Amino acid sequence: MKILITGSNGLLGQKLLHKLRKDSSVQLIASSKGENRVSSKDGYTYFDLDITDNDAIAKLISIEKPQVVINTAAMTNVDLCEDERKTCDALNVDAVRYLADSCAKIDAHLIQISTDFIFDGQDGPYSEKDIPNPLSYYGLSKLKSEELLQAHIVKWTVLRTIIVFGVGEKLSKGNIVLWAKEALQQGDRLNIIDDQFRAPTLAEDLADICILAAKKKAFGIFNASGKDIMSIYEIVERIAKHYGNSTDHLNKISTETLKQKAERPRKTGFILDKSINELGYKPHSFEECLTIIDQQLKTID
Ligand SMILES: NC(=O)c1ccc[n+]([C@@H]2O[C@H](COP(=O)([O-])OP(=O)(O)OC[C@H]3O[C@@H](n4cnc5c(N)ncnc54)[C@H](OP(=O)(O)O)[C@@H]3O)[C@@H](O)[C@H]2O)c1
Repeated sequence: MKILITGSNGLLGQKLLHKLRKDSSVQLIASSKGENRVSSKDGYTYFDLDITDNDAIAKLISIEKPQVVINTAAMTNVDLCEDERKTCDALNVDAVRYLADSCAKIDAHLIQISTDFIFDGQDGPYSEKDIPNPLSYYGLSKLKSEELLQAHIVKWTVLRTIIVFGVGEKLSKGNIVLWAKEALQQGDRLNIIDDQFRAPTLAEDLADICILAAKKKAFGIFNASGKDIMSIYEIVERIAKHYGNSTDHLNKISTETLKQKAERPRKTGFILDKSINELGYKPHSFEECLTIIDQQLKTID
């Protein structure tokens, strides 16, 4: 099977790249905007591909003819999306349409990553059938990408995920686990919100469900998060306990005090039964995820 990944310099993109480049049943094409920042260069071909460039997408897909395209590229900074709506639409909506158009022409299957931020957080955890009501422009843009696929002739999968974390190489942004681990080790005083609830997702788990969906060419929407739903405070508290750090410097605060640009849903989390039963998804517990991260950090050091 020939698979094209977009956004391969990103966290999910890197995890997919590392899993698929060693898979002898897969011919892998990786792409991201700019040069390849992943140091392992074997087992795949890399292309500089800006997914907001429709012509470049059409050219690459028509020449390479992948059977599956996994779109991991996106504008993921929720507050920036609120301010820069045109850029957000270009990357999170228009680009998905370009990919869908090009995939449809060669009968390729498109896998798109969506988010819990399509929901308002009033009654999480959510199933795939619950009604979205985004509070932020980022959430709205991701919902628009889902809706355009539902109305498109392309074959598609939408995988909805929540707070993705993990270890990567030269990433352009951090993630909660690595940030909290370092801040706790330094003994920083941390103000953490305790009125938002999420099910954080190990990037490897998300990569695994992308691959399961790709191999099955699964059709439709699937929840693809971690299985433990916790407040953000509890996430940091469990990281502290895992690493034997004191929690004395942790302060509980409310979302209100943060004055963030974009509104966030209060409680999300996903019901994972469909993904577990239909795709064979096996997410790790949060503590297992932390142990996996420890091992990865040891091999990097
Ligand atoms: N991270 C989360 O907490 C979270 C939560 C819910 C859903 N998701 C979704 O999960 C997916 C993967 O997220 P992630 O955390 O892996 O994101 P990420 O680390 O930000 O990766 C996205 C990658 O896309 C690249 N990119 C940016 N603009 C591009 C363009 N115009 N053309 C091609 N590539 C471009 C970025 O390049 P640079 O590295 O050079 O900037 C980055 O490497 C996204 O769809 C995101 O919306 C993420």
